[in-house]
Amino acid sequence: MNRGSFIGAVLALGVLPGATCAQPTHAERYAAVCAACHGAEGASAMAMTPSLGGQPSFYAITQLFLFRDGRRDSAAMTAVAKGMSDEDLRGFSDFIATLPPPAAAPAADPARAARGAALAARLHCNACHGAGLEGGKQVPRLAGQREDYLLHALRGFRAGTRVGYSQAMTEALAGVKPEEIEDLAHHLATFGPQVFK
Ligand code: HEC
Ligand code: HEC
Repeated sequence: MNRGSFIGAVLALGVLPGATCAQPTHAERYAAVCAACHGAEGASAMAMTPSLGGQPSFYAITQLFLFRDGRRDSAAMTAVAKGMSDEDLRGFSDFIATLPPPAAAPAADPARAARGAALAARLHCNACHGAGLEGGKQVPRLAGQREDYLLHALRGFRAGTRVGYSQAMTEALAGVKPEEIEDLAHHLATFGPQVFK
């Protein structure tokens, strides 16, 4: 092998010193691309945009897959996900799982939050989402999620506009009234450890 073809082969394999170091990690790419909308630490300050902190890796990867496929409808996320490789889906999801869970919002309407909690108990939301609504595996964390986003998500499942990884949510919300959806969202957003400043 002459020198030229040796360098060509090494470049193709990406094993030259420096060639791999130049690749940004998924943590760095999160900071550069995702943080603007989802928050640097995964706590979103943007309307209708979910916090990602504390989401299980498997839940995040199922959703990135649905966005990439165009099956979960979001112009912003489809644009972000459409160029991702399978390795990217895994890398971003594993990084998301390391971000701290968001603090719950203070309950602006404690009576509504209590009605939502009673409803969640009656509808067995905890059976899948966990006793602390912390999620696990393919099931998302709900505790402390943004209320506007939760409302949007719940209405989407009910209307059939949000396609899930499974039918679980369509079935869970069958027969739930619109005003009950609002109580549920208020409960979920205000449930969990709060941060008092
Ligand atoms: C321009 C703003 C924007 C950017 C940039 C962005 N996202 Fe999103 N993301 C959204 C919105 C809005 C949603 C909610 C979509 C919906 O309503 O269904 C979302 C949803 C998600 C979800 C699903 C969360 C859930 O609870 O279901 C994941 C996972 C996610 N984004 C990961 C990422 C990653 C990883 C990046 C960076 C590579 C990123 N996002 C960049 C706006 C953004
Ligand atoms: C049988 C299991 C199951 C039950 C019961 C259940 N869920 Fe879910 N839930 C899921 C799964 C799985 C997902 C992920 C969506 C998907 O399939 O892609 C989800 C997603 C959600 C989301 C979207 C979160 C996000 O970040 O986008 C909300 C909100 C939610 N559930 C609320 C509830 C509420 C409120 C109840 C009770 C009325 C409930 N769930 C009952 C399994 C369940």
